[in-house]
Amino acid sequence: MVNDVSSTTEPQASRAGPDPEAQNERGGAHQTGAKAPAWTDRELADPHVRADKAGRVRSMFAAIAPSYDLNNRVHSLWRDQAWRRAAVRAAAVEPGHDVLDVACGTGDLTQALARRTQAATVTGLDFTRAMLDVAEMKRDRRPGTPLSRIRYVEGDAMALPFEDGSFDALTIAFGIRNVQEPSRALAEFARVLRPAGRLVILEFHRPRNPLVRAFNGFYAGRVMPWTATLLARDRSGAYRYLPRSVGSFMDAEQLRAAVTAAGFQDATVRPLTMGICWLHRGVKP
Ligand SMILES: C[S@@+](CC[C@H](N)C(=O)[O-])C[C@H]1O[C@@H](n2cnc3c(N)ncnc32)[C@H](O)[C@@H]1O
Repeated sequence: MVNDVSSTTEPQASRAGPDPEAQNERGGAHQTGAKAPAWTDRELADPHVRADKAGRVRSMFAAIAPSYDLNNRVHSLWRDQAWRRAAVRAAAVEPGHDVLDVACGTGDLTQALARRTQAATVTGLDFTRAMLDVAEMKRDRRPGTPLSRIRYVEGDAMALPFEDGSFDALTIAFGIRNVQEPSRALAEFARVLRPAGRLVILEFHRPRNPLVRAFNGFYAGRVMPWTATLLARDRSGAYRYLPRSVGSFMDAEQLRAAVTAAGFQDATVRPLTMGICWLHRGVKP
């Protein structure tokens, strides 16, 4: 998550005077034929309010898809798969259940759900084709293997292509922050879950401990955007968005309240790895 790893970076205030990045976007980058950055500093102050957030998010993840997994491992210091395993446990999947992993990306959580449970079906959904292509490449299609139970679907978290009450558990890891309207997605999650179905969300919020918060702010806000960009050979600016989007997103308590507002019962949130990553859980009545 490190991919997405989190940042505690405060959103930058708009700067007075000309914004060199914005100028670059309008002129320099295009004139030299280089790819324009996806976001200017000004836009990154609060990427969540932008009407074109979804389109930008999709092109960003398309640009970094091939190196996404490597970046996650390296920049989470190999914690990201442990966080996903915690999400699988929280989903409490029983034999024969149907599970949906929304914003599945390259399928790491989808695969963990297939390997570590006896679900009848495991569906991964994402709206970025390039991320799903990587997920498909990682899938073992041999009949009878755990991963052969997975199916990947291209679709939008805010308009899920499934009937009401189709799933017993629904997970979303590092995805809800990237959705254009989280409340619409949460309402969809409530719709497609069966009664007693579990919603499990992994997300980055700012750590509460001041020391951890300061370290994480420096690491995720200053170091990671450079190293991740190098690893991904990315020109879209994805790794500048990722940490900034955490600082301007809902905090842990606000997201817990949003889960409750969407109709889930017993909404809880707990920190993982010193509050860098958080695990939310709610139950459909
Ligand atoms: C940080 S990645 C997380 C991928 C994966 N869940 C993981 O654990 O690594 C965020 C994903 O959210 C997807 N996404 C963002 N908004 C979406 C939406 N409205 N519908 C479906 N997928 C969306 C992006 O395409 C991207 O693959």
